[in-house]
Amino acid sequence: MALAKTALKVESGRKLLQRVHDKLEKCQIHLRDYLDEQKNGVKTIDSADDLQIRLLPIAELSIDLFVEAELLKAWKDLFGLDIPYFSFDRQLFDHKNSDTFSVAQDVIIAVRGLTKNYNLGKTTVYALRGVNLDVKTGEFVAILGSSGAGKTTLLNCIAGLDTPDYGAVLFRGKNLHEQGDSAKSKARLLEMGFIFQSYTLLPHFDTRENVALPADLAGLSKDLKDRIKKLLEGVGIDQQAEQYPATLSGGQMQRVAIARALTNRPAVIFADEPTGDLDSATGKQVMDLLKKFHEETKTTVILITHEQDIANYAEKQITMEDGVITGTRETKHERN
Ligand SMILES: Nc1ncnc2c1ncn2[C@@H]1O[C@H](COP(=O)(O)OP(=O)(O)OP(=O)(O)O)[C@@H](O)[C@H]1O
Ligand SMILES: [Mg+2]
Repeated sequence: MALAKTALKVESGRKLLQRVHDKLEKCQIHLRDYLDEQKNGVKTIDSADDLQIRLLPIAELSIDLFVEAELLKAWKDLFGLDIPYFSFDRQLFDHKNSDTFSVAQDVIIAVRGLTKNYNLGKTTVYALRGVNLDVKTGEFVAILGSSGAGKTTLLNCIAGLDTPDYGAVLFRGKNLHEQGDSAKSKARLLEMGFIFQSYTLLPHFDTRENVALPADLAGLSKDLKDRIKKLLEGVGIDQQAEQYPATLSGGQMQRVAIARALTNRPAVIFADEPTGDLDSATGKQVMDLLKKFHEETKTTVILITHEQDIANYAEKQITMEDGVITGTRETKHERN
């Protein structure tokens, strides 16, 4: 028994050593490449920004060497802020200038080096640690990950509801976070639709009024009556047009929220755990509805979930862990 335990320890020790060995080897290669790259570079450093840029590759190596905590502290002492966690691409530092990166024409949302820390007194939560992502026009993408992975933070930064510390979001070719609050609000109102876990309906507005709200706010009254009627029929809530949210079931409220998200015919729909508060049968109906709308209108959909079954509705699945994207895969649709 004791012998088996010892053998197990030896085995895990051996594995750990191998990991360290592999990392060291990787670092050596990185360091050699880095020094090679640098040898002809300009040697003068004339600003704190410049110093930061030059130190980043070394920082990355140190992260690989398990000294993350010390490195973080040293960085904070030196620059008074947290380390930018994204992989070391100098262009990322120039995020204020959207010309520094180009994206393919069919990409509606491009995210580069997105980093967001929450400072909570003595501790810092590294919610996004350098996210890079391209979403194509018309794509249905699911972002899958466990609680606290950073999914909502990412979505909020992409939609301009939250501001990243570093990095850039290009929305339809424009750098979103370079724009003022009113331009961002306008983009949200006219080009984005939102569906949240908690429905967020106005309690004193009936179904029809809730669905019409984005159009009212945008002053888009043309054909509104007809459009709202079609939307209500489309999500199967036309019979409840004059009911208030308190008199609707969870599934019905989420249908109202879906209709409302579509009112201004947005370019992108953001859905953050839209089925989180629903039982699985109702959740499936809501997802079928979202899928149907996606197929009919080819509106880009970004869906957040921590359930594999829900993610399977998307065409592409992106997994997040600890503030970074750890995988991307196409969904295999065996059904029908
Ligand atoms: N306003 C905030 N202040 C402090 N910490 C925050 C704040 N918002 C998010 N965080 C932290 O950032 C991390 C990522 O949170 P986020 O809400 O993005 O995760 P999530 O993947 O959406 O999780 P869930 O599946 O539970 O919704 C978490 O550790 C969370 O506690
Ligand atoms: Mg969340």
